[in-house]
Amino acid sequence: MKSIVVAYDKNNGIGASNDLLWKRDIPADLRHFRDLTHGGAVIMGRKTFESINGILGGRKNIVISHHFRLMEGVTFARNLQEAYKEAGDADISIIGGGSIYEQALPDVDRIYATEIKAVFPQADTFFPRLDSREWHEVTRESHRADGANKYDYDFVTYQRAR
Ligand SMILES: NC(=O)c1ccc[n+]([C@@H]2O[C@H](COP(=O)([O-])OP(=O)(O)OC[C@H]3O[C@@H](n4cnc5c(N)ncnc54)[C@H](OP(=O)(O)O)[C@@H]3O)[C@@H](O)[C@H]2O)c1
Repeated sequence: MKSIVVAYDKNNGIGASNDLLWKRDIPADLRHFRDLTHGGAVIMGRKTFESINGILGGRKNIVISHHFRLMEGVTFARNLQEAYKEAGDADISIIGGGSIYEQALPDVDRIYATEIKAVFPQADTFFPRLDSREWHEVTRESHRADGANKYDYDFVTYQRAR
């Protein structure tokens, strides 16, 4: 199964200057991300891979780039189809960034979105707007900001209508 895992703000902003908009200010989302992706394959663009600055443990790391490289613990693929093949039978999570979400959206039936209840005007990368006729919300779990997490946020699951 192929899913998108993403976190975006109220304007669908996902990043700025090759980093997350909320930096490390929502650790609950990082744990959620780990729980959703652990044990499967994660597919990401080269810029996202560089922004993570390391390998995501317990997951097959597949990085899409026009330039093939050899790096321990990482599989490079030249496009999404090649990345899907490299994932084999593993559950696939597409983890960004903007260009990869855009290209992979037609291929997935499920989106795990963290909706951050804030606006970050510096955003320079965005998640595509979901067409509500095509995507149905199936679960929503709301959380308030607290001592550890700086913003209110919802964990939402969208399923493609068939
Ligand atoms: N909030 C979130 O959930 C989330 C998640 C992930 C990332 N982000 C943010 O998103 C931003 C990065 O997104 P981005 O769109 O700039 O970059 P990206 O999608 O992470 O990576 C873009 C790169 O991927 C490669 N690529 C993309 N499509 C390709 C194709 N069809 N064939 C071959 N290579 C391809 C190219 O690498 P080469 O140049 O090497 O050829 C391209 O430069 C950052 O700010 C990051 O923090 C946010």
